[in-house]
Amino acid sequence: MKKITTLLMFSSLLIFGMCKHETTTIINGGNGLTDTTKIVEEPKNDSVCFNTQILPLITASCAQVGCHDANSRVEGLVLNSYTGIKRMGTNTLVTYITKKTGKVMPPLPQPRMDTASINLIKRWIAEGAKERNCNPTSCDTLNVKYTSHIAPIMNTYCKGCHNSNNVGGGVNLDNYADVKTSTLTGKMICTITANGCAIMPKGGPALSTCNVRKIKIWAAANCPQ
Ligand code: HEC
Repeated sequence: MKKITTLLMFSSLLIFGMCKHETTTIINGGNGLTDTTKIVEEPKNDSVCFNTQILPLITASCAQVGCHDANSRVEGLVLNSYTGIKRMGTNTLVTYITKKTGKVMPPLPQPRMDTASINLIKRWIAEGAKERNCNPTSCDTLNVKYTSHIAPIMNTYCKGCHNSNNVGGGVNLDNYADVKTSTLTGKMICTITANGCAIMPKGGPALSTCNVRKIKIWAAANCPQ
């Protein structure tokens, strides 16, 4: 009897722990671009992911040409990898991105990192600054809009090099109108799919399949705001 109770408790724990919710959504984004999305919600683990949340932020703000990219290595720092960031030290990182005066990073007139990004980096450090790599388990391509889907991708992966103070390649990606223009000319998708244009994000890891898909669906729907 005791054995059975233990077994029951154990298996219900297992079932509870592995509970998944799956839905399949078919989206027709126009222009014949049909997309099938499977949303799989894994049991929650809210720890910060290094590869999808931290590295792209730091690369876009710090690993620019002439700064801390693999070729320029200003002050010997290359900030496009976990090793490079840890070598510099997370204390140094926080000091420079939060400093109000003197030598701040990214240097002026570059925009400072926004509060949400700084808080995310601080949370990552508080959790031990681990190289926790996540594979996105869900890709939300339902109702893709600029504000909810596209702006967060631009802010994390592109804005550091494409803003009004630092217009890489003459392209600004910090507002709806300019992102829409780059997308409708085909430049955006050409760069993120390495399709003959300059490959973006420059010097950083490529966008995930999910993010590329969101941008393609958004483009096919004529870039809703
Ligand atoms: C580390 C800096 C950096 C990041 C991050 C970055 N870019 Fe760029 N981008 C540049 C530079 C510099 C150029 C100018 C061309 C060159 O030097 O390769 C450029 C050029 C471009 C162009 C114009 C290409 C052309 O052929 O005219 C587009 C479009 C573009 N980037 C989109 C993006 C997108 C989308 C992202 C984010 C997914 C991104 N970039 C991230 C630095 C960056």
